[in-house]
Amino acid sequence: MLLKILLGVLCCVGALATENITEQLSPPQLLLVSFDGFRADYLRRFPMPNLKLLYSQGVLVEQLTNVFITKTFPNHYSLVTGLYAESHGILASNMYDPVSHEHFHINNDSNPMWWNEARPLWISALDSGYKTAAMMWPGSDVTIRNRTATHFLPYNPNVTFKQRVGNVTKWMLGDEKEKGAMFAALYWEEPDRSGHIFGPDNDTAMSEVLKEVDDNIGLLISELKITGLWGRVNILITSDHGMTQCSAQRLIKLDNCLHPDNYTLVDLSPVTAIIPLKDPEAVFKLLDKCHEHMKAYKKPDIPDRLHYRNNDRVQPIILIADEGWTIVRRGDKLPRLGDHGYDNALPSMHPFMAASGPSFRQGYRISSLQSVDIYPLMCKLLSVPPQPNNGTMTHARCLLAAESCWDVPLVIGLVVGVLLLLTAITVLFRFLSSRRPPGSRPFQRLQVDDDDDDDPMLE
Ligand SMILES: *[C@@H]1O[C@H](CO)[C@@H](O)[C@H](O)[C@H]1NC(C)=O
Ligand SMILES: *[C@@H]1O[C@H](CO)[C@@H](O)[C@H](O)[C@H]1NC(C)=O
Ligand SMILES: *[C@@H]1O[C@H](CO)[C@@H](O)[C@H](O)[C@H]1NC(C)=O
Ligand SMILES: *[C@@H]1O[C@H](CO)[C@@H](O)[C@H](O)[C@H]1NC(C)=O
Ligand SMILES: *[C@@H]1O[C@H](CO)[C@@H](O)[C@H](O)[C@H]1NC(C)=O
Ligand SMILES: *[C@@H]1O[C@H](CO)[C@@H](O)[C@H](O)[C@H]1NC(C)=O
Ligand SMILES: *[C@@H]1O[C@H](CO)[C@@H](O)[C@H](O)[C@H]1NC(C)=O
Ligand SMILES: *[C@@H]1O[C@H](CO)[C@@H](O)[C@H](O)[C@H]1NC(C)=O
Ligand SMILES: [Zn+2]
Repeated sequence: MLLKILLGVLCCVGALATENITEQLSPPQLLLVSFDGFRADYLRRFPMPNLKLLYSQGVLVEQLTNVFITKTFPNHYSLVTGLYAESHGILASNMYDPVSHEHFHINNDSNPMWWNEARPLWISALDSGYKTAAMMWPGSDVTIRNRTATHFLPYNPNVTFKQRVGNVTKWMLGDEKEKGAMFAALYWEEPDRSGHIFGPDNDTAMSEVLKEVDDNIGLLISELKITGLWGRVNILITSDHGMTQCSAQRLIKLDNCLHPDNYTLVDLSPVTAIIPLKDPEAVFKLLDKCHEHMKAYKKPDIPDRLHYRNNDRVQPIILIADEGWTIVRRGDKLPRLGDHGYDNALPSMHPFMAASGPSFRQGYRISSLQSVDIYPLMCKLLSVPPQPNNGTMTHARCLLAAESCWDVPLVIGLVVGVLLLLTAITVLFRFLSSRRPPGSRPFQRLQVDDDDDDDPMLE
């Protein structure tokens, strides 16, 4: 009996001790936030005091090279999978799958078939025994590979930012019954929505919406402070793509080049996806010389760098408009004053990334990073084994406090500095020597300075 009690106590202490150890070993929770359509240079154009405060205590990546096509769904899925669009399967806002003959539209996206080619972090982190949460992130209310995040809400644009943050912090805190979510993703529609309506060049409208976005970041920070999460969790704020100004003077009209009977249109602008009907070669020829500000590619000829070819859902012909040009079927109506989706090499299409928390360096910035690198970074922060992906830790590593990282400009600066100093010393030494009369020995003279300068005995 006594032995049993003793064993029980030992067990209990043992369990408590292990619990403590595991608690200490478990990494900080991670909150990933996306503000849709936050073009990198908004950071320079508008004040954003709360965001600046956040990254002054952490890190800033001034520009993220995102994935083609630079649209919301492809890029949000790349952020949480580390895959190019051709590898995760969410290739556009409108898709057609020639195998299943299904159609995809962002308002009708809940068929898991579209998402199952990848495994987003909110699902793979479940396998590490973690709870996860995803608030209105594209795909978060879809049952992907038979699972969802532990916590999510169906997409509803009417739910305010405050309500989203309220739920996310509640999920991260957990309760007596359930541990807090180790990984949480949070999505917000601005400044994308206003960017489309007013165009990114409208300073009045954009400064208003970016003040709202920054106020929301302030609200997020104060909510994290109130709940005691601030300083304990890692927080990563980023976006999916930028935005560029469009114009009714820059319309490309497909009907001017080709009768609509000749093709099926899957997606329209700024990247058009076309299935030719009768004579593919003839259709391509007409589209190829359709407009000087639009490039036409047959699927096998789509440039490698776009990583937008190896998937059934890439159609036989795609058309890519030059920056600021809009592809329409016909008419003179400009659908959106601002748009995105263009070549991911364009700076106007790039978003940014800021992060802070216990794992990040403080007051550090780099000029650029690939957006597919964010996934392996998040896996490292969470100690979750990464799924096969297209990212690397080579550059992202430098953002972490625990990693020693050569700062190339600093190292070059130091080396150049030391070389200059050595040169200066040599030159000075030569100069001094050249002023000495021949045969004199200045260093030995020092020892005898006050005595007879020229005592030959001392030589
Ligand atoms: C667990 O850690 C807390 C502080 O982090 C400490 O107060 C407590 O005594 C520890 N418990 C055990 C069983 O080690
Ligand atoms: C959504 O897609 C499914 C399958 O493609 C289709 O049957 C359904 O009609 C669509 N719903 C709407 C509202 O478009
Ligand atoms: C999902 O679960 C069903 C049975 O519940 C199973 O037949 C199917 O293979 C699963 N799909 C995936 C992608 O795991
Ligand atoms: C959002 O609000 C609008 C206007 O109040 C309403 O018509 C719409 O049904 C709401 N959407 C959802 C998903 O609740
Ligand atoms: C969570 O979101 C719902 C809307 O779906 C809202 O009614 C509720 O107040 C939110 N909870 C918190 C704690 O903010
Ligand atoms: C800019 O947006 C404001 C609304 O905030 C609108 O009143 C104004 O007409 C727009 N200016 C231009 C040049 O489009
Ligand atoms: C395109 O469609 C029109 C009308 O149906 C037809 O006359 C023409 O031959 C077609 N052109 C090509 C290249 O298929
Ligand atoms: C991207 O990663 C996937 C998964 O590992 C791989 O299949 C694909 O070949 C990669 N793409 C490139 C361009 O390396
Ligand atoms: Zn958009």
